[in-house]
Amino acid sequence: MTESNERLLNRRIALGITGSIAAYKAIELMRMLQREGADVRVLMTNSAVEFVGTLTIETLSQHPVDSDVLALQGDGQIGHIASAHDVEAIVVAPATAHWLAAMASGLAGDTITAACLATSVPVVVAPAMDGGMYAHPATQANVARLREFGYRIVEPESGVLASGMVGRGRLADLGTIVDATVEALSEASGTATSRRSSNRAAAPSPSPSPAPAPAPASVPSRSDLRGRHVVVTAGGTSEPIDPVRFIGNRSTGKMGIAVANDALDRGAAVTLILGSVTVEPPAAAQVVRVETAAQMQTALQALTPPEGPFFDVLVMAAAVADFRPRTPSDKKVGRSGGMTLELDPTPDLLAETAKRVAAATKSSAARRPVLVGFAAETGSFDKVAEKLRAKGVDLLVANDVAEASSGFGTDTNKVTIYSIDMPPEELPVLDKSEVAELLLDRVVVRLGLTGRAASDAAGATATPESAVSGR
Ligand SMILES: Cc1cc2nc3c(=O)[nH]c(=O)nc-3n(C[C@H](O)[C@H](O)[C@H](O)COP(=O)(O)O)c2cc1C
Repeated sequence: MTESNERLLNRRIALGITGSIAAYKAIELMRMLQREGADVRVLMTNSAVEFVGTLTIETLSQHPVDSDVLALQGDGQIGHIASAHDVEAIVVAPATAHWLAAMASGLAGDTITAACLATSVPVVVAPAMDGGMYAHPATQANVARLREFGYRIVEPESGVLASGMVGRGRLADLGTIVDATVEALSEASGTATSRRSSNRAAAPSPSPSPAPAPAPASVPSRSDLRGRHVVVTAGGTSEPIDPVRFIGNRSTGKMGIAVANDALDRGAAVTLILGSVTVEPPAAAQVVRVETAAQMQTALQALTPPEGPFFDVLVMAAAVADFRPRTPSDKKVGRSGGMTLELDPTPDLLAETAKRVAAATKSSAARRPVLVGFAAETGSFDKVAEKLRAKGVDLLVANDVAEASSGFGTDTNKVTIYSIDMPPEELPVLDKSEVAELLLDRVVVRLGLTGRAASDAAGATATPESAVSGR
């Protein structure tokens, strides 16, 4: 072993490995957890054993691998129950589509699902699969269900996959998974003493809890969004011209991140979809990184399948580029000869998403989430009321980005909130955190009007992958 930060000193961790091509990376993950001081024991599905075998793992972990859900230990204890009660966290990496589905349904057909069902310690899940498999609404619904259990999802990354295709499905960076484990344990430590000690005898709590659990430093001060899933998009998109250049905008992400912070403070589970930003996102939010408008579109489609949106509130504060190069070059364009760019308009993600939500919820107004867009204007708000109707959102927040105290990069904003059934409200220049709070006050009222949340009605809450802008 090399360097050790010892952030997991003497922590007992179960590493669950499932049958993904990325299973080989789990061995290095085990070593990284050990370098942090953890005592790691490994649970495997039968498929995972086919992929990587047990000999290396048993040798390096100095524990037998538990891959047989019907097996008893030497002392007669049931293996997965003993594991569930002996560890302080379970990390499932890589998690297959099949495993996510089994876990979401509570099917205890392998040692990892069985141990997760039998425990109340933090569970960290890092999915890995083909991009299409991950984007499929079934998988997204399963991920959402796991978030409802309070499980921490470490989103897969975009890149070249085992198939040779490019997509979002590659196992997250191993360091990120280790960090998530450290965070999950430290978040749990606020309640851990009683939770862990009672865990040895206690039955698992079947009641869904909002996820991700807020960090102790940001314990909600209010509860009017408790149990709700709020998706916020923030930052700008970057539309490639060639591998080194792109068309972007001046968005810093401050407004969207302020909304995410306030939603967390109100007890919501927050998914923050981030384009390019200059400020740190809150640690308690589930963060999904995107670059282009097309990635945001794909992500939003996954969030808004025909069976219903996977959120209660969508606040679209990201600044999506209005145009993108028609034919981005896959090689750096040299300066000789100059450059003429042909641009195509990007899809109107706000209107398109609102339309899908309306179609999915047309038979049940109670399931309709609250949709909020942002409109960056320069000079006049004359067209905002018409935009509100055309886009099909509940609230549209207009700000004049040409004003010094408002818009991109500033800590303050001067907005007017347009609503489908109220006169516009012009607010004074306020800190972005105050704007966020006033905006979510109005969202909370609207949630009351729409009745039950999407999560209550559809049995689904958080999901990743999206982003939208108000345009
Ligand atoms: C070469 C190969 C690679 C695979 N990689 C993945 C993968 O990365 N993610 C995934 O969800 N399934 C993958 N599968 C399919 C799973 O192995 C299959 O769904 C299996 O039933 C999963 O079992 P488990 O979830 O019990 O481990 C792969 C299959 C093969 C043959």
